[in-house]
Amino acid sequence: MEHSFEQVAAARAAIAARTSLAPRVGMILGSGMSDLADNIEEPTTISYHDIPGFLASSVEGHRSELALGWLGGQPVAVMRGRSHFYEGYTMQQITFPVRVMHALGCHTLIVTNAAGGLHATWQVGDIMHITDQIFLPGLAGNHPLRGRNDERLGVRFPAMLDAYTPALGSLAHTVATQQGLTLRRGVYVMISGPSFESGAELRMLRLLGGDAVGMSTAPEVVVARHSGMNVLGLSLITNLALPEGSPANHAEVLEAGIAARPPMTALLQGVLSGMHEPDPA
Ligand code: HPA
Repeated sequence: MEHSFEQVAAARAAIAARTSLAPRVGMILGSGMSDLADNIEEPTTISYHDIPGFLASSVEGHRSELALGWLGGQPVAVMRGRSHFYEGYTMQQITFPVRVMHALGCHTLIVTNAAGGLHATWQVGDIMHITDQIFLPGLAGNHPLRGRNDERLGVRFPAMLDAYTPALGSLAHTVATQQGLTLRRGVYVMISGPSFESGAELRMLRLLGGDAVGMSTAPEVVVARHSGMNVLGLSLITNLALPEGSPANHAEVLEAGIAARPPMTALLQGVLSGMHEPDPA
């Protein structure tokens, strides 16, 4: 079922009952990256179980809490852990929290994920600024906006050109340069998972123009754009997904997430500190 305005309002009210903070930036932290939220000042932490419509992730490495507070001088709502399509949820279910973050007042979504790098010259631990996406399940009909459209939530046919806000990408590159961090850029391809790709599939993803592959993010970004939010996406390259390489596994994905915590934290904090107050979306 499509999201209803009333369901979004109910979830928003459940959160507003626990904190008076009005977050301006929503963040979704991917596999192994939940601890980035430890740096939040004056945090209010709410279990997904206490927010109607939020789903606890069943996947190791994902917590299931929304943390609200201050980070890099910005009021933020941070999702520690997300649910995935491959867990059996619908595209509407996994994108519901984005609607709620927008309803809380977030004009920007920062989304991070763990992804397989599709270039032999890349390294585990690299961070990629997502410049664009290929939403394979969405193109094939598994799309969060399928169904009746509520105009109060967004338009029927939202544009996806510049889905990832160029100005936020520029800011990320500026901050990375200041921090001496190499920030790659590229196209994120979402596959459904949960199986990793075959060799032929990896070759196909390269031919399509993909630079990194993962099992999340694209549906959340579509809904964020439908809501009128600006988006910054960052992929942590947790493994190299190469046809001639060794198979990916979940343990290495989590391990790389933990190892990359300091640079990812520094980058995110730097971006938040460098954000000027944009017009409300
Ligand atoms: N493929 C798909 N999803 C992933 C990968 C991968 O290699 N690494 C982390 N998430």
